[in-house]
Amino acid sequence: MKLALPDLGATARFGAAIAAELRPGDVVALSGGLGAGKTTLARAIIAALGHGGEVLSPSFAIIETYDSPPLRLPLVHADFYRLNRPDEVEELGLDDYRSDAALLAEWPENAGGFAHEPGCLAITLESSESGRIAIVKAGQDWLGRVPCQ
Ligand SMILES: Nc1ncnc2c1ncn2[C@@H]1O[C@H](COP(=O)(O)OP(=O)(O)O)[C@@H](O)[C@H]1O
Ligand SMILES: [Mg+2]
Repeated sequence: MKLALPDLGATARFGAAIAAELRPGDVVALSGGLGAGKTTLARAIIAALGHGGEVLSPSFAIIETYDSPPLRLPLVHADFYRLNRPDEVEELGLDDYRSDAALLAEWPENAGGFAHEPGCLAITLESSESGRIAIVKAGQDWLGRVPCQ
């Protein structure tokens, strides 16, 4: 389904709606080119889960982790832009980080993709004349809790 995100407020509300439904084991896969709004949506989700301070972009460190508490659940925020090969994900120890946590993944295709996981909420962000459009594909585990409309 498609969702219009005409401004930053709309992205913040969408992030809060995702955060309200997020469970350990889920992946929110955030696709779209540079400047598409992936980190902005990730920040909205992290803030709505209870993070008070700044949200660092993980584009340099690749993985940033957030504990629960203060978040409602443990969270991993990853940016796979700099990965050269999907198998580098194993070297990062992503699976260890993911136990009991939800994952927000920017550039998921560089990590081999997550769409095969039933807990994957795949979101592709595109520019539109007013703000952004989100194209949302929900895995099986998201039935009944898809956070739009
Ligand atoms: N819904 C939106 N409407 C208008 N501008 C947006 C929206 N979402 C994000 N932006 C803007 O787009 C720019 C790039 O966002 P960012 O999240 O850093 O992109 P990415 O992580 O995909 O490279 C930022 O200046 C941000 O404020
Ligand atoms: Mg980014």
